This record gives sequence, C-alpha cells and structure tokens, in this order.
Amino acid sequence: MIATPTRPPLVRFVALVEQRLGLHYEEGQWSELVPLLAERSAACGVERYLEQLAAPSSQAEWKVLAERLTVGETYFLRHPTQLETLVDQVLPSFLRQTSTVRVLCAGCSTGEEPYSVALLARERGRVDSSRLRILGIDVNPRSIAHARRACYSPWSLRAVPSAMRQQWFQRTPEGFALQPQVRDQVIFEERNLLEEASAFWAPGSFHAILCRNVVLYFPQDVIRKIIARMSQALVPGGYLFMGPSETLRGISEDFELLRGGDAFYYRLKPPAPPGVSAPQAAPAATPTVAQRVAAPASTPPPAPDGLEGVLQLLEAERYTEAWALLESLPESSSPKALLLRAVLHLHAGRLSQAEQLGRQLVTASATEAPAYYLLGLCLEQGGDEAAARGRYSASVRAEPTFALAHLRAGSLARRAGDMVEARVALRMAVSLLPQEKPLHLSLFGGGFGRHGLMQVGLQELQACTEVP
Ligand SMILES: C[S@@+](CC[C@H](N)C(=O)[O-])C[C@H]1O[C@@H](n2cnc3c(N)ncnc32)[C@H](O)[C@@H]1O
Repeated sequence: MIATPTRPPLVRFVALVEQRLGLHYEEGQWSELVPLLAERSAACGVERYLEQLAAPSSQAEWKVLAERLTVGETYFLRHPTQLETLVDQVLPSFLRQTSTVRVLCAGCSTGEEPYSVALLARERGRVDSSRLRILGIDVNPRSIAHARRACYSPWSLRAVPSAMRQQWFQRTPEGFALQPQVRDQVIFEERNLLEEASAFWAPGSFHAILCRNVVLYFPQDVIRKIIARMSQALVPGGYLFMGPSETLRGISEDFELLRGGDAFYYRLKPPAPPGVSAPQAAPAATPTVAQRVAAPASTPPPAPDGLEGVLQLLEAERYTEAWALLESLPESSSPKALLLRAVLHLHAGRLSQAEQLGRQLVTASATEAPAYYLLGLCLEQGGDEAAARGRYSASVRAEPTFALAHLRAGSLARRAGDMVEARVALRMAVSLLPQEKPLHLSLFGGGFGRHGLMQVGLQELQACTEVP
C-alpha cells in the first residue's frame, strides 16, 4: 500500500516543484500533489525521494514530473491576430535588414504554435520560408516527441480553415500529418525555461519570441527572471508575444506595449535602430484568419460584470481575470458559479479540484450533464480515455441533446476503434450542434463557436468513414 505523505515532505515537494519547474501551487492546491508524491516516492520512501529530487543528478525524475504536472493545452492558429501580426509585419520588417529571421516558441507544448507560424508564413506570402528559422522548446519530453511526430487530432485543427487543412495536412490512420516541408522547418528542443542562463539565451539570438499561455502558472519572481532572459536574447527592437491573460505590468520595463488589430504584443525599447522600419500597428488589409475562422477576438474590451463577464473572459482565454472576477462575485457559490470555477480549475491543470467540484455538481439536476462532461475532460487530461467515455455517456443520458458530449464520446470511440459507436455519436453531435446551448459552448467550446465545432464533428465523422 502507498503511504500518504505528511505535511512537511509535501511542503518541501511543492517548493522543489516551484524551484525547478516554475509551477506555483497555492496552499489550497497542495493536496492535489499528494497522490503524485505518494506514487513517485513509494519505492524508496518520501525522505529519500526528496533528497534525490533535490540532487543535480535527478534529471530523469524531473522529466517524469514535468510530464505529469505541466498543462499543455494548445491548438493551431491560437490567438490568430497575433500570429498574423508576426508574419505580416514583424518578420518582414527584419527581413529587409537580415538574411534570416529567428523565432522562438517558448513553451510550445505539442508544436501547434510554431507550426502555425510556419504555415501562416507560407499562406500569407510576406515571408520567404527559406529565410525563416523556428525553434520550439518545452520542458515536457512527451510534448516534444509529439511535436516532432507532427500528427494531430481534428480537435487540434479546429481553428484551421478547411482549405488550409487540405493543403498542408494529410489524413492518416493516426490523425492529420503535417506536410514534411512544413514539419522540417521547425526544430524542437526539450528545454526548461528556468535552467541556469546558458549560451541558448545569448544576446541577439531571436527576432521574436512567443511565450504565450506559459508564465501564467509561474510566480512573479520567476516570470521576472524568465522575461529578463528573453529580453537579453532578443535582437534590438525584438518582439515578445504573450497570451491574452499575461502581462509585463510590474514585471519588466524593457518593453513597450503595441497593439495591432485586436492583438497586443511587446517590442524591446529603445525602438528599432535606424533603417529597420517598425511594423505599422494596424490591422492587415487582407482577410485575416481571425475573420475566416469562428474564433473570438483575442483581447476583447472589458467584460461585463457578473457570471456573464466570467463566461466572456473564459471564452477569450483570459483565465486569470475570469478567476478574479468570479471570486469577487456575491453569487460565487451558485451552481453556475461552481461550474465555472471547476472549468477554470481544469484550465489551470488543477484536475483534482475540478473533479471534486464536478462530483459535487453531478448530484444536482441543473448541473448534472455539464458536470459529467467536466469529469470526462478531467479523466481525458489525466490520460484515462476509457473512463472519460463513460462520463460523456452519463452526460448524454442526463441531457440527450448535449451536442458536445456526443462529440467527445464519438471522438473517443473512434480513437478506441469502435467505429459504429463513433459514427452514431458523431452524427448526433453534428445534428445537435446548431441548437447547442450557448452556456455549453462558452464553458466547453474551447473558445470556438458552432461553426468551428461543426468542422471538428464533420472531420471526425469523415475520419471514421474513411479509416477501415
Ligand atoms: C498551455 S501550454 C501553451 C502552449 C502554447 N504556447 C500555446 O499558447 O498554445 C504551456 C506549455 O508551457 C510548458 N512549460 C511549463 N513550464 C515550463 C518550463 N519551466 N520550461 C519550459 N516549458 C514549460 C508546458 O509544458 C506546456 O507545454
């Protein structure tokens, strides 16, 4: 039997995780690390395990912990206006001065972000791809291995317009494989952003750095250190793109904030040296991917008050603000507020807290179906797809018109090779999506509207018809 660690070793473990991976856990979240610490220390005892973990030779164990603790949510063409600003304006401005431009995606997860840069550069034709170097780094070895395979699920491609998908991806039994010429343009490295300064961060190494939706899990002092390193590694006038929930306010004075369309991004001060023209902070004239796909604006104006505001912030992936607003509301213990809280826990990777709330909410008829759905997502994120299917089925039993639950159940059935069940569930999903409740779309649509989700459903359906 695995012994439950007591508080002192847990405190030490939390501190080590923050020190080595940057991941910060509030005291209220510590309990979710207990099962992991118990499991990993079972063989040698918790004291010994912690000693080993603190030693410089503990690299292998830290890889395991990185795989278990990091949150890798990502998809192609996420925050598209930022990506368009990068390939339409930022990179061409440097290419007038230099032969190659170098882009770093720091915290690239499974590769969708750096590949999106490569794809958009080709699509929009403002950057000669042979002069573009893209590097993706992440601390999670499994994510890096996936990135190198470059084969993706329809869910990862949910924001990719179908013409683009057809041109750049090939359908295989494993998923959508990115064309080799795009895949080979991106290099991936397993690397921890917190590693001691090295030649990797040498001055002038990159023209632009994307570090989006990564530091929101880090404490302020760690963010400061990482941003200082990035500021040093950028060329003069280099650019930094962060996620919509992330800000340099109170973190760094090295950058100025720019706005292009509905995207915010940063440029190193002082402004570009003479001869390097700064990009115009204006929306591109050509139709944008943001306009072509059913994605929300990446930085909407201030959200309204109340739970509606929380929902809007959630849809815009502004999780920190959503959390703060939710906590400030008087109705923060209503079933809808609890559901929102559970979804925000899930987005922050706090699976056990999301699960705990989900279990509480399945007992009330008003929240039974979405709560089962949420429990399914928690199990999927934890890697237990078979059990997740069970929760999606329970969700559908509680609310037979819940299109998203049919969709997830169908996708998982297809992945498990159960094509008959997959087809039935996916057909249901596609026929019910036009009437899906707005609340379900806001909570679980991953920031995408009916149209994007419909595309996913149709792709999944096609995939289970085509694959023998
Ligand atoms: C939510 S994903 C963001 C992916 C992508 N940038 C995007 O916006 O879609 C956060 C990624 O940061 C990575 N990460 C977390 N801590 C890290 C660290 N200390 N060093 C490098 N990568 C880290 C995680 O492994 C995860 O893949």
